[in-house]
Amino acid sequence: MLHFLQSHRNWKLVKLSVIQAVVVIGIFFCFLLTMNVIPYYAFVFAIIGFLALAALFRLLNLPFFILPMIRGPVYVPSSDLQIEKMIKLAKVKKGQKAIDVGAGDGRVVIALSQAGAKVVGVELNPDMVSLAEKNIAEAGQKNAKILWQNFWDVDFSTYDVVTVYGFPSIMSELEAKLIMELRPGARVVTNQYPFPHWELAKKDGKVFLYIVE
Ligand SMILES: C[S@@+](CC[C@H](N)C(=O)[O-])C[C@H]1O[C@@H](n2cnc3c(N)ncnc32)[C@H](O)[C@@H]1O
Repeated sequence: MLHFLQSHRNWKLVKLSVIQAVVVIGIFFCFLLTMNVIPYYAFVFAIIGFLALAALFRLLNLPFFILPMIRGPVYVPSSDLQIEKMIKLAKVKKGQKAIDVGAGDGRVVIALSQAGAKVVGVELNPDMVSLAEKNIAEAGQKNAKILWQNFWDVDFSTYDVVTVYGFPSIMSELEAKLIMELRPGARVVTNQYPFPHWELAKKDGKVFLYIVE
C-alpha cells in the first residue's frame, strides 16, 4: 500500500479515504454502544484494533467502491466488441492525446494506445489502478499511463479524444463539463449510455460519438 501511495501521490484521495475509514469505524463504535457492549472493554478494544488495522490496509479502498456509486459508474468492463467500436468511432490519429474516463482494467486505454494515441486512463479505485497498470505493462504500451484520480477533477482541455463508459446518473453533468472544457474538433465516444442533450454525430449499436463544435 505504501508503495502505491508513493507512486500515485494524490493526497486529496488519501484524505478522503482516511476520513471515510474513520466514519466507518465511528459508525461501528456507535453500534457497539447502542448494543450495550461497552462494559466489555477488552472485546471492544480488540474489535476496534482489528478495524483500525483493516482500515489501514483494506478499508482504505472502501470509499473507492462507495464514491463511484454516488458520483460515477461502478466497474463494469466494456466488451472486446464494444472497445472495437469505440476505437473505430474515436478515429485516433497518431500522437493525439486521449483519455479514458474511469479506466477500469485498462483495456480501453491499451486499445487507444495501440491505435497510436498518447493515453491517460483516470481511475479512482486503487485495485483497478494496479490491475490496469499491470495490463498496460504486459501489453507493452509505453504511451499509456494510469492516473489515480477523480475524473471530476480532470481538466479535459488538452485532450483530442475522450472515451467514457459512464452511468446515466452522471451523463448530464459530464456532458456539461466536457463541452465546456474540450477544444473544437475533440471527439467523445461513450459506451452504452448517450449524453442526454448533446447532438449525436454517429452511433454504432450502443456506442455513441460526439464531436465538439
Ligand atoms: C463502467 S467502468 C468502465 C471501465 C473501462 N473504461 C471500460 O470501458 O472497460 C467505470 C470505471 O470508472 C471508475 N470510476 C467511477 N467513478 C470514478 C471517478 N469519479 N473518478 C475516476 N474513476 C471513477 C470505476 O471505478 C470503474 O472502474
